[in-house]
Amino acid sequence: MCGIFAYLNFLTPKKRSEILELLVTGLKRLEYRGYDSAGVAIDSADNQEITLIKKTGKVALLEEAIKDFSEKLQVSGHLDTHCGIAHTRWATHGVPSEINSHPQRSDDSNTFVVVHNGIITNYKEVKVFLEQKGYRFESETDTEIIAKLIYHFYKQHPTFTFRELVENVVQQLEGAFALCFKSKHFPGECVGTRRGSPLLVGIKTKTRLATDHIPILYGKDHRPHGRVEIPSLPRTGSTEFEPLEDKQVEYFFASDASAIIEHTNRVIYFEDDDIAAVRNGILSIHRVRRGGDDPNHREITTLKMELQQIMKGNYDYYMQKEIFEQPESVVNTMRGRVNFETKTVVLGGIKEHIPEIKRCRRLMLIGCGTSYHSAIATRQLLEELTELPVMVELASDFLDRTTPVFRDDVCFFISQSGETADTLMALRYCKQRGALIVGITNTVGSSICRESHCGVHINAGPEIGVASTKAYTSQFISLVMFALVMSEDRLSLRKRREEIIDGLKNLQGQIRKVLLLDEKVKSLAENLYNKKSLLIMGRGFNFATCLEGALKVKELTYMHSEGIMAGELKHGPLALIDNTMPVMMIVTRDPVYIKCMNALQQVKSRDGNPILICEEGDAETMAFASQYLEVPKTVDCLQGILTVIPMQLLSFHIAVRRGCNVDCPRNLAKSVTVE
Ligand code: F6R
Repeated sequence: MCGIFAYLNFLTPKKRSEILELLVTGLKRLEYRGYDSAGVAIDSADNQEITLIKKTGKVALLEEAIKDFSEKLQVSGHLDTHCGIAHTRWATHGVPSEINSHPQRSDDSNTFVVVHNGIITNYKEVKVFLEQKGYRFESETDTEIIAKLIYHFYKQHPTFTFRELVENVVQQLEGAFALCFKSKHFPGECVGTRRGSPLLVGIKTKTRLATDHIPILYGKDHRPHGRVEIPSLPRTGSTEFEPLEDKQVEYFFASDASAIIEHTNRVIYFEDDDIAAVRNGILSIHRVRRGGDDPNHREITTLKMELQQIMKGNYDYYMQKEIFEQPESVVNTMRGRVNFETKTVVLGGIKEHIPEIKRCRRLMLIGCGTSYHSAIATRQLLEELTELPVMVELASDFLDRTTPVFRDDVCFFISQSGETADTLMALRYCKQRGALIVGITNTVGSSICRESHCGVHINAGPEIGVASTKAYTSQFISLVMFALVMSEDRLSLRKRREEIIDGLKNLQGQIRKVLLLDEKVKSLAENLYNKKSLLIMGRGFNFATCLEGALKVKELTYMHSEGIMAGELKHGPLALIDNTMPVMMIVTRDPVYIKCMNALQQVKSRDGNPILICEEGDAETMAFASQYLEVPKTVDCLQGILTVIPMQLLSFHIAVRRGCNVDCPRNLAKSVTVE
């Protein structure tokens, strides 16, 4: 994932070396997102030119490269006012290389430079236009067109302000982006904008800010006809604004609050199509056109989070932190969507499409690994509340079979990263056949987001550990919310819906309770860590926990593990059972409880000694085992959220005990962008 960081100091003297250090530290804070190259742009020693320093690989290598420039840049010299921009790139167009990394530039003299997160979908069109005008491209990126286009507009309209130029550029762009610009024609100025990709600015002043909002200035709607053939561009907006009263000010533009929180907690989150410009130390926010409900200003908010909340914090591993974040991440998934008072659910991202979805022939849920398991976990509820046939597919297998797909199918693509190649290929396959495409992802601006007709962003927050944990529970909840939306007008299902919504309300507290099992799970791990295999059995709503638990054990501990449908025991797996085989069984008081108890008896009568995950206080069930983990009771279809967490903890503790690399298991990557 790419990262943007820009730093502007106005009447706040800083050495060039300090500015470079600030930029590099900003990039380091974004490292956790994953990237393959990095770069910075700052003014040259004579302040007449812009110097670009870029490096493939880690930010540490960029830091080394910057040292080589220190003499040339006269890094001990002071700058009262200056703008520097920086970027970590995660390749989408063109291989990781210095030429493809950002900042991208307009020309050999670096007249305009830009850093970009996201993807420009119409870049080829714009590139052809610019090539016809004589521009020569040096990189394979989509971003380079942005730097060249702004230069082109500048040459046509040399009296335009920096902000006006950017306004005209973004009107030519399609896709998702967050951008920060710097130019040698506009020293000490920075312009940032976004559409579909996050961008915020942190503001730091010596005294308390005299205002808690920045007015938005609206221009007239003047989108030119034709995307790139623009005979002459109108000027836009007003130039009047309420200035911030402080003279000395520093601005930190970033794609992620983690890069700025150590400097200031006063931030403005930009909305799509905001153009934020700093000129003479004053920040102004413009929008090209005004819609009916558009606000007059953007609030300056105070960040409550600490840097450590974003980084590892008190935890030793990202995965551990992410497991323990689940009480909050599940609430974030529901925030603004589930109204616990009125017992209603609204999913803004698919609202418009609900009538069409209700008319469909079947639902298909497609994903890989953990994301696929979230589909297994919710299929039963989706069948119950939608009364539609629900197919659950592994993306790779789905493609191997060239499965028939029809115009009246609704296909869900579930992916934490939004970039998994198999899932994306399956999406394109279904899209070509006319199905409605719904994306369920955790990554705004990802390929799956962009290529879906509509979708639900699961809002779990960044997941850094390669093994997926909090994304699973948030995907689970997103699909449950979808089932609730689909059944909103069914009177006969009202009671059921209400009990599920009540269940969702209690989840946060119940997850906290499950997490208290950590020490107990750790001692279980002590007994299991040197075993060869672990079988995990269950059925019904808990079957997905068995699959997901086994996947976690496999990928993190390199131990063999298998999730077994308890109903299949007699058809083979029972042969594995003896007094040496470690077995876990999930037995909760749901409609298949009796059947699970039968399976438990079968295992016991073969000398098995299963460890149980069962409901809190269920003495009758616990009597069948010497070891058990009690989780709170919730409504049957949500129980899987509570039973999976002990499995996440167990795999984590076994991995630590076996000395495995918890956050980066061998042979695996967070984002599998190859088939
Ligand atoms: C397991 C895990 C993987 C991913 C799978 C799909 O812990 O993380 O199985 O779930 O590679 O990835 P996404 O969800 O990004 O499509």
